[in-house]
Amino acid sequence: MTSHPTLDVEFCRSHFEALAGGWVFLENAGGTLVPRQVTESLADFTTNCQVQPGEGYEASDAGQVRIEEGRAVLAALINADLDEIVVGPSTTSNVYVLSHALTPLLEPGDEIIVTNQDHEANNGAWRRLEAAGAVIREWRMNADTDDLEIEDLEPLLNDRTKLVCFTHCSNIVGLVHDVKSIVHRIHEAGALACVDGVAYTPHRRVDVKDLDVDFYLYSSYKVFGPHMGILYGKRDLLARLANQNHYFVDADDHQRRLCPGGLNFELTAACGGILEYFDQVHAHHFPGANVEASQRLEQVYDLFAAHETAMSARVEEFLTARPGVRLIGCGAARRRERVAVFSFLVDGRDSREFPEKLRARKIGLYADDFYAARCIDAIGARPQNGVVRASMVHYNSPEDVDRLIDGLDRII
Ligand SMILES: Cc1ncc(COP(=O)(O)O)c(C=O)c1O
Repeated sequence: MTSHPTLDVEFCRSHFEALAGGWVFLENAGGTLVPRQVTESLADFTTNCQVQPGEGYEASDAGQVRIEEGRAVLAALINADLDEIVVGPSTTSNVYVLSHALTPLLEPGDEIIVTNQDHEANNGAWRRLEAAGAVIREWRMNADTDDLEIEDLEPLLNDRTKLVCFTHCSNIVGLVHDVKSIVHRIHEAGALACVDGVAYTPHRRVDVKDLDVDFYLYSSYKVFGPHMGILYGKRDLLARLANQNHYFVDADDHQRRLCPGGLNFELTAACGGILEYFDQVHAHHFPGANVEASQRLEQVYDLFAAHETAMSARVEEFLTARPGVRLIGCGAARRRERVAVFSFLVDGRDSREFPEKLRARKIGLYADDFYAARCIDAIGARPQNGVVRASMVHYNSPEDVDRLIDGLDRII
């Protein structure tokens, strides 16, 4: 391998047994496949450690260690510290709990900004705080660019603004927002930022400290792990949130305070397998390299990003060249980075026609609003039953792209 290797896709694919079946999986924005390391870790935990953890006997303490290791991986993926994350059932559930935990800090008339581009997970729970006296303002997508523009956030910010909730990149539009600059502007206005990173984290490395976000959310089942959600919060903010669990939970145990019912032991432990997989990818591409864990993660994500960008260029070229096809988010005046998420509409066609026909070619994707209902309405895709969405991650191959383009070409 050279010092700047390209991703060995076949090596990566060999870790995902589901790929052996001949299907092309292009609904990765809905959930990714899991590598062998994760399924093995899950099976091992349930076989050997499925007892109440941390009670001083062998299986129990081994389980506790594995759970902590899994939590550490989930923190490391976004460069958070262990006591700054809460592992919960899903991002939707985490936002719901967070919104309740924040409510006592709000006063009637305090303003919360949400967007009409976000998935409903980072939307509905905040909008419901209107009933508690909050004033909800909406940062709307620009009709020409299909995107959120910072100029449109400006007039919404004022000294009553307490919180701005927006997405790192939309699961429909796929364009990446400059989170660091937006957060900086939100902080200047004296408010907090809550960022949905669910659609971004499968594709790029996140450093919550560098972004300076107050709250950040992602879902492990979109990052090659099992079905859970992770909430990051700055330490001092987590400490100010109201306890959502039993009254006797320790005041500094944010994991328990903000995850009523407790975290899922076996799924958390299985997340250790995500890092094992990433480390094997690293060792394969950078043999003998002696670099620390965070740099390994960065290098692995760089490999993923370069590979995905090359595949994306072909999909984008196809979709923008076809008459009658509208690729969502391609009208941006300024060139924005896009993750490998492509949503489109075809003139006069019901979007559901596409997954049905592609299924016959063993191509798995879907047409829907993908729970970003407000975004779908804003772009006018409702009459066509939502958008067709093709989303790729690093284990997709150039041959997958060939099959997608050929399939779409024939249907269109
Ligand atoms: C961008 C985005 N945010 C939030 C969510 C919700 O995540 P969860 O299913 O973990 O609640 C999704 C799920 O599709 C999503 O794509």
